[in-house]
Amino acid sequence: MTDRYAVIGNPISHSKSPLIHKLFAEQTGQDMSYEAIEAPLDGFAATIQRLRAEGYKGCNVTVPFKLEAYKLCDRLGERARDAKAVNTLLFQDGQILGGNTDGNGLLTDIEQNLGFKLMWKDALLLGAGGAASGVLWPLFNAGVGVDIANRNIEKAQALAKEFTGAGTVYARRYEELAGRKYDLIINATSSGLSDELPPLPEGLLKPGALAYDMMYGRETPFMSYARKQGAAIVADGLGMLVEQAAEAFYLWRNVRPDTRPVLEKLRS
Ligand code: ATR
Repeated sequence: MTDRYAVIGNPISHSKSPLIHKLFAEQTGQDMSYEAIEAPLDGFAATIQRLRAEGYKGCNVTVPFKLEAYKLCDRLGERARDAKAVNTLLFQDGQILGGNTDGNGLLTDIEQNLGFKLMWKDALLLGAGGAASGVLWPLFNAGVGVDIANRNIEKAQALAKEFTGAGTVYARRYEELAGRKYDLIINATSSGLSDELPPLPEGLLKPGALAYDMMYGRETPFMSYARKQGAAIVADGLGMLVEQAAEAFYLWRNVRPDTRPVLEKLRS
């Protein structure tokens, strides 16, 4: 029987995940289906119960349900616990197992697809919402020193506070950034959705710097800014999307798909 999976979000119609998992399944010969399901904003838990009752094997969870998914789990992987957010669920032996593959997806895309080594680099992370908090621990664990900039400084400070004593994560106001230099800047704000640029000063990039926007599907003002500032590499978040999907696929199916042809196909 075909094993069923889905991605749950709201909105969800734009999701590329069904296509990505279809390509992975074809490539690896896995007998599975994967669909996009929109849950009502107040109906995430009910949707999960329905999927379990109908025999689904697992699902991905996206905006705005990752925190709710975290709270529903009977058991969590380390990365999900660090991020306090879950993007991958496995329904097994009457339990809900939760993991978070977003951070690893970002690291794999940066290091393997873009060829940018992260260890000991200085990063500026823009934003302090769910997208930012999901990648903060993985960056930290990869040996990256991180400054978090956010308009609402309290939110950035709350994230930085988790690292008190470790000493390499700081909260900064945008106005404090002038004169600082970074090896990479990651845009984890939703500014691209409204075609806005976070209030960044000029001259933030070191030679050879990487600018990474976690959004995909369009050239954001942040990406244009980075090109003008002379970034060596400018990337959108499509590679992260494909890599986090590959990691979820592995958690469900015990098989690692080859992401390169899938990424090439999505880009063409
Ligand atoms: P997500 O889960 O996608 O991170 P979120 O929790 O709503 O979404 O967070 C959105 C983030 O984008 C916040 O960090 C927000 O900054 P504030 O907390 O200061 O509001 C940031 N953001 C959105 N639009 C922005 C803009 N035009 N410039 C800078 N930051 C922006």
